[in-house]
Amino acid sequence: MRIPCGVAAFLAASHSVVVVVVVAAAEAPQQRQHMAWPSAEPASANQKLPSYQNPKYHPDRKRANAVKQAFRISWDGYYKHAFPHDSLRPVSNSFEDDRNGWGASAVDAFSTALIMGEHKIIDQILRYIPDINFNHTDSEVSLFETTIRYLGGLLSAYDLLTGPLKPRFDYSTHQTSLILHQAVRLADNLKVAFDTPTGIPDNDLFFSPPRKKGSTSNGLATAGTLVLEWTRLSDLTGDPQYARLAQKAEKYLLHPKNPAMGEPFPGLLGSSLNLDTGLFEDGAGGWGGGTDSFYEYLIKMYLYDPSRFSVYRDRWVLAADSSIRYLISHPTTRPDLTFLAMWRNRTLHYFSEHLACFSGGNFILGGLTLDSPAYLGLGLDLVAGCRATYTGTLTGIGPEIFQWQDNTAPLNASNNSPPPTHQKLMYSRAGFWVTNGGYQLRPEVIESYYYAYRATGHQKYQEWVWEAFLAVNATCRVGSGYSSLMDVNLPEGGGWTDFQESFWFAEVMKYAYLVFAEEAPWQVKAGLENRFVFNTEAHPIRVAGGREKYGGWRG
Ligand SMILES: *[C@@H]1O[C@H](CO)[C@@H](O)[C@H](O)[C@H]1NC(C)=O
Ligand SMILES: *[C@@H]1O[C@H](CO)[C@@H](O)[C@H](O)[C@H]1NC(C)=O
Ligand SMILES: *[C@@H]1O[C@H](CO)[C@@H](O)[C@H](O)[C@H]1NC(C)=O
Ligand SMILES: *[C@@H]1O[C@H](CO)[C@@H](O)[C@H](O)[C@H]1NC(C)=O
Repeated sequence: MRIPCGVAAFLAASHSVVVVVVVAAAEAPQQRQHMAWPSAEPASANQKLPSYQNPKYHPDRKRANAVKQAFRISWDGYYKHAFPHDSLRPVSNSFEDDRNGWGASAVDAFSTALIMGEHKIIDQILRYIPDINFNHTDSEVSLFETTIRYLGGLLSAYDLLTGPLKPRFDYSTHQTSLILHQAVRLADNLKVAFDTPTGIPDNDLFFSPPRKKGSTSNGLATAGTLVLEWTRLSDLTGDPQYARLAQKAEKYLLHPKNPAMGEPFPGLLGSSLNLDTGLFEDGAGGWGGGTDSFYEYLIKMYLYDPSRFSVYRDRWVLAADSSIRYLISHPTTRPDLTFLAMWRNRTLHYFSEHLACFSGGNFILGGLTLDSPAYLGLGLDLVAGCRATYTGTLTGIGPEIFQWQDNTAPLNASNNSPPPTHQKLMYSRAGFWVTNGGYQLRPEVIESYYYAYRATGHQKYQEWVWEAFLAVNATCRVGSGYSSLMDVNLPEGGGWTDFQESFWFAEVMKYAYLVFAEEAPWQVKAGLENRFVFNTEAHPIRVAGGREKYGGWRG
C-alpha cells in the first residue's frame, strides 16, 4: 500500500514559504532518452520475441515454505498477543489499535492465508469476520486506509472463496455471503465521505454516527485509490451507488479543472484537491507517497474492465510517457542506475522513497497489459535501481527515503545538491544517500521483483526476492513476530520500533510467497489474461472484464 504522507515535508514546502530559487535549466527539463529495451537483460540482435510473450516459471517449494513459515510465526504472535486488535507489538507482546480496532491484521492476512492454503488461519479469520462491528470506533477513520485494507481484504476473500478456491473449501454460501455483507455494512458507513460540494470525498471521518471531519482538501492518492474497491463492490452487489460515488470523484483527477497548476507535465499531477471547487491546490508530486497509487490504479482499472475504463488507460499512458520523457534520472556516481525524479511544478527534485519503488512493477504491468516494450524496459530499469537501494545498505534492506545527484542537471543547483559530508563515501559507492533510514516492513521492492519475474521468468528476480526476504528475516524477526526498524544502515537495523504493520501480512508475505509458488488463477500474467488484479494493499480482486469473462476458470 502507499501511505499518503511519505513526501509530507516536500509537499509542505511546496505550500509554504517556497524560496525555491528557480534555476532556469532545471525549470525546463530536457527530454531524457530512455535506454532501448530491455536494458536490464540485453537482447541479442537475433532475439526477436520479447521474453514476456512466453516466460517459463520455476516454482520453488522450499522457499515458498520458508515464506509460509514466516507468515505462521507472524500470525501466531498476533493471534496470541494482539487479536482481535489491529496490530502486534512483537517486542513487548502487546497490541495497538492503529486502524480503528476492527482487527486490521486479521483482515489484511485473509487473502494471503487463502492463497497459501493455511486452513487453520483461514478458519480463525472467517469465524471472526461476522463479529466485526463496523458501526463503531473511537478513533478517526481514514476513508483511504479503510478502503484498501478492510474493504479490499473483504472483497478479495469473497472473490477467492466464491471463485477459484470454492472447490477447495466446504464453507457454506451463508458463511461466504457474510463477508460481502460486512463489506456493504462498512461501505454504507463510509459513503458519507463523498457528501461534499464536488463529490471528492473528505478522507477523514468519525463514526457512531458516521460523519465527516470537515477537511477542506484531499490528497491525490487518498482520493484516487478508491475506485477499484468501490466499483468491485457495486459489481458484486448489483447496487451501482458505490461505483458512482468513487467514479464521480475520480473525474476531477482524470480531467483536472486547472491543469496550468495541477498538471505540470501531461498526465502528471499535483497532490492536493479542494473539496469545494475541485481545483488542484498545488503542482507538486511524484510516483511516491501522497500521489503514488492514483497512477497505480489507472492501469489497474483498465485491467479490471477494459470496456469501461479505457479513459483510465489513456491517462496512465500519458503519465507513463511523461515519466519517460521528463523524470528519468541517473546518479552522477552510478549512471547505470535509474530512478524517477519528483517534481514541484516543472522543477525536478532528485529524491525517492521505498514507497515509490512500486513504480517498477506498475510500469511492467502497463507494459504487459498494453504490449509495450518501452514501459516494460523502464519498469525493469526501475526495479534494478530499487534493488541497489537494498544492496547498498548495511542490513541489505532499502531505506524509507533516499537522494542522489542527477548527472545531467546543473550540479549543486538548489534542486541538485551534493551529499552531506558523512555520506559522500556511501554516495560514491552506492549511487544514493539516505535521507530517512527507517524500514516499516514495506513491500514495494519485493512487489516490483514479483512483476519483473512474472514478465520475464528470469530466475534472477527470484534470487532478488530471496535475498531481500533473508535480510528482512534476519533483521526484523524479534520476539513474537517481525518489527519495523529504526535505521537500515546501522547494525541490527538500529533497533526495533516494536511494531508489526498489518500490510506485512497482506503484501510482503504475499508477494514473497507468490514468486516461488505454483501457477494459480491469481498469478500475474501478460495481456488481458489476468483473472485478478491486486489492489494497492495486494488483495487480489477478480476482474470484471477481459478474456476471463469469456473463459471461466480453466484450472
Ligand atoms: C449497524 O448498523 C446497521 C444500520 O443501522 C444495523 O442494521 C446493524 O444491526 C448494526 N450492526 C451492529 C453490529 O450494531
Ligand atoms: C507553482 O506554480 C504556481 C502557479 O501555477 C505558483 O502559484 C506556485 O507558487 C508555484 N510553486 C512553486 C513551488 O514554484
Ligand atoms: C558541488 O559541490 C561540491 C561539494 O560542495 C564541490 O566539491 C563541487 O566542486 C561542486 N561542483 C560544482 C560543479 O559546483
Ligand atoms: C528466519 O529467521 C528465523 C529466526 O531467526 C530462523 O530460524 C530461520 O531459519 C530464518 N529463515 C531462513 C529461511 O533463513
